[in-house]
Order: sequence, then C-alpha cells, then structure tokens
Amino acid sequence: MKFFIDTANLAQIREANEMGVLDGVTTNPSLMAKENIRGEEACRRHYLEICSIVDGPVSAEVIATDFEGMVREGEELAALHPNIVVKLPCTADGIRAVKYFSKKGIRTNCTLVFSVGQALLAAKAGATYVSPFVGRLDDISEDGVGLVAHIVQMYRYYEFPTFVLAASIRHTQHIIQCLDAGADVATCPLAAIKGLLKHPLTDSGLAQFLADHAKVNA
Ligand code: E4P
Repeated sequence: MKFFIDTANLAQIREANEMGVLDGVTTNPSLMAKENIRGEEACRRHYLEICSIVDGPVSAEVIATDFEGMVREGEELAALHPNIVVKLPCTADGIRAVKYFSKKGIRTNCTLVFSVGQALLAAKAGATYVSPFVGRLDDISEDGVGLVAHIVQMYRYYEFPTFVLAASIRHTQHIIQCLDAGADVATCPLAAIKGLLKHPLTDSGLAQFLADHAKVNA
C-alpha cells in the first residue's frame, strides 16, 4: 500500500518525505486555505513547491463545478508539472471531466466519494484514483473502511484499473484497517503516519539496550 500525505503544509510534507516512506501528496481547497494560500498564482507556486519536494503524484483540486470550468482549470494544473493529478469532485460534471482527462492521458483523482455507485461511475469514466472518505463516513455512523473494502472487491472482480485511495484518514487504526481492506493508497495526516511508529516496547527495549551498552563502556 502506498502512502500519500494529506496536507498542503510544506514543513509536514518535507518531514514525511525525509522519513523515506512518502509516495505522494493530496491537497484540497480546505487544506490550501489552512496554509493561507490565496489566489491562482499563489496556488500554482505552492503546487510547484510541493512537486519539488516529493517525487510522486500530487493531487491538485479544481475549484470550478461546471464541466467547461473543470476542464480549463484541470488543463492548467496538469500543465504545471508531470506529477500533478487533477482532482475532481464526484458529480455529473466531475465524472464527465474525468472521462475527458482520461481520454487525453491526464491522471485524475475522483474525490468526495461516499458510495460504491459513485466509485463505479468514477472507474467507468477512467479515473486514475478514486477517493472514498473514510473518516467523514465514520463521523455519521457509517462504515468508512467497509466502503473501501467494497470498492476494492468490486474493482478487482470487474478488473477496473482505478486505484483505491483511502482518504479522510484520521488515525493509525484507519491506516491498518485500509491496509487489511486492500486499499492501493492511504492518504494520511502526518500524525497518523508517525503514529504507526509508536510502541512502548520499542522505547523500553531501546532504553535497555543503551543502558546495558553504557554499563560495559563506562
Ligand atoms: C483527500 O483527498 C481528502 O481531501 C481528505 O482526506 C479529506 O479529509 P478530511 O475528511 O479529514 O477533511
């Protein structure tokens, strides 16, 4: 399973990249706003900065909601850097735009997916990635990881090449559950990625090794 980081924060992207386990980045308009990136030119510069840090797919989301606007924005984003993946919402116009970009060989990430039916349409339109939102489904007492598993099963059965990108990951347990469900990618906050490292036996074991070493090397 690949690891993407779900942030537009450059320091966090650098930190995850330096760990040596980062395969890509996903952003969305809320994450860009959180970093106070204003205006099209600043957004473009920011995406380029991210692409200069991470050598992997970087999802950049369109703001337009109509087909023509999505195509215009998506083409501009895709032209910025070969690693840019055009992120499009799972709406009728978004699916149409996924198909448009798929025909042109431009990679897409179909986002805001909350059902198997939406994932089916995204795959049929030729999406490179489909993003089911695990945490947001759990927030309303639905089964986010269950949806990931259902999509994985459906794509494998029908041999769709679309990658399942588990999104809206909130904690380490989500990552492990998405791994078990067969997700191709999990896009995670830095804290969840680092959380995978934590184990008290690692800490106490290391402390003991160092103490024993110190005893005979005093
Ligand atoms: C990723 O592509 C999504 O934009 C993101 O994971 C949403 O996460 P949230 O539900 O924590 O906002």
